[in-house]
Amino acid sequence: MISDAKNLPESEGEAPAEPIAHAEMAQRELRPPIAASAAARFEQRFGRAPRWIVAAPGRVNIIGEHIDYNDGFVLPMAIERYTVIAAGANDEIRMTNDELQPNSSFDIGHSSLATVFSTATNDEVCIALDSPKRHAVPGHWSNYVAGALAGCIERGMRPGGFQAVIDSNVPVGGGLSSSAALEVASATLVEAMTGRQLEPAEKALLCQKAEHEFAGVPCGIMDQFASVMSRADHLMLLDCRSRHIEHIPLLDPAITVLIVNTNVKHELSGGEYAERRGQCESAAHKLGVASLRDARTPQLQARRQHLEPVEFQRARHAISEIGRTVAAAAALKAGNWPEVGKLMYASHDSLKNDYEVSCEELDLLVDLAREIGADGGVIGSRMTGGGFGGCTVSLVETAKVDSVVERLTGPYREKTGIEPGVLKSRPARGAHTIKD
Ligand code: GLA
Repeated sequence: MISDAKNLPESEGEAPAEPIAHAEMAQRELRPPIAASAAARFEQRFGRAPRWIVAAPGRVNIIGEHIDYNDGFVLPMAIERYTVIAAGANDEIRMTNDELQPNSSFDIGHSSLATVFSTATNDEVCIALDSPKRHAVPGHWSNYVAGALAGCIERGMRPGGFQAVIDSNVPVGGGLSSSAALEVASATLVEAMTGRQLEPAEKALLCQKAEHEFAGVPCGIMDQFASVMSRADHLMLLDCRSRHIEHIPLLDPAITVLIVNTNVKHELSGGEYAERRGQCESAAHKLGVASLRDARTPQLQARRQHLEPVEFQRARHAISEIGRTVAAAAALKAGNWPEVGKLMYASHDSLKNDYEVSCEELDLLVDLAREIGADGGVIGSRMTGGGFGGCTVSLVETAKVDSVVERLTGPYREKTGIEPGVLKSRPARGAHTIKD
């Protein structure tokens, strides 16, 4: 319990994150923690301190890309970037407003209404808690909130009417799962409000369903599991079939996880993700297996003529990437950094050539990282997330990270004319309640 939201301590995993723009790095200390900023915005808008504050992180995937929906292994971690929701019950309005009498008609209409304000877009929506609906504007941020609320309500969790402010420092559209962070923060808020904890896997699945049904994105389970279950200073090896999790320590201060945002997003047709999923499913079907998790390279080679060339390529990526992810987890545990680096580069090549989800900007950053090489301090680098823009993730020697950042961002800026974003992060803590 924290009584004064303005004086929130920087709790574990909630430290101010590295700013996104390289030029802003020096300003880091000046930024307020995002939780305090959410609390202040709530107070400003709704005229009282929030009763609940919850946070859920974005994630970066170290390796195992486009593998969750193939039932394989993925290795993400939460980043020190959070979506925070500060909220208060509608019935507090009556208690704090002298002009309103108890049981006034004001309360009745608001008991089942959520009024939610986003600091990012500066707009407010009202969600009917009896039956949360999709927003009329496709892709609207409130769909992630409404979807998570609907999932909780379906499970018998009944929050009373509330007001909330959403504040976030997870970059949007950068492939760092800002949408999962918003869904998971919303479900965490309902947990705080109702006092009922969901089982973590159930919570993540409820949020994934919100993404499918309210946002229309047929995503896998990685992002929501990472946002719910990540642990500070650990990578999360997730078996997407059994949903078993192994938390692998990443404690070595000599290693830094560096995320560089291309700041481009190529929305080719919007259907690329679903198309890849479909190609993997039809490849699995033609190989006679339930999913590509069950296929092996010799089997794929033997049945090559039964597959469309594109299905063959997609399957080759998935099968090899599952192997790389398991190998990378073992190499990480053994502290075998050169091997981890080799696997990351191989992952990128496979995503670029076989899975065809990279783009020129991502390839440029990975090529630059390769040129800098181990001598310059780069252990390994690859695109991360769904692709077609977004970020690369690199493992870098901490002592050389500033020089690596210069050597990546300078040529990138020069060749593309785009200012890249830079973010360093320790593996962070999953969703949690800050004030309840
Ligand atoms: C998106 C999806 C995830 C996963 C990645 C690719 O982030 O939401 O489920 O499939 O792409 O690894």
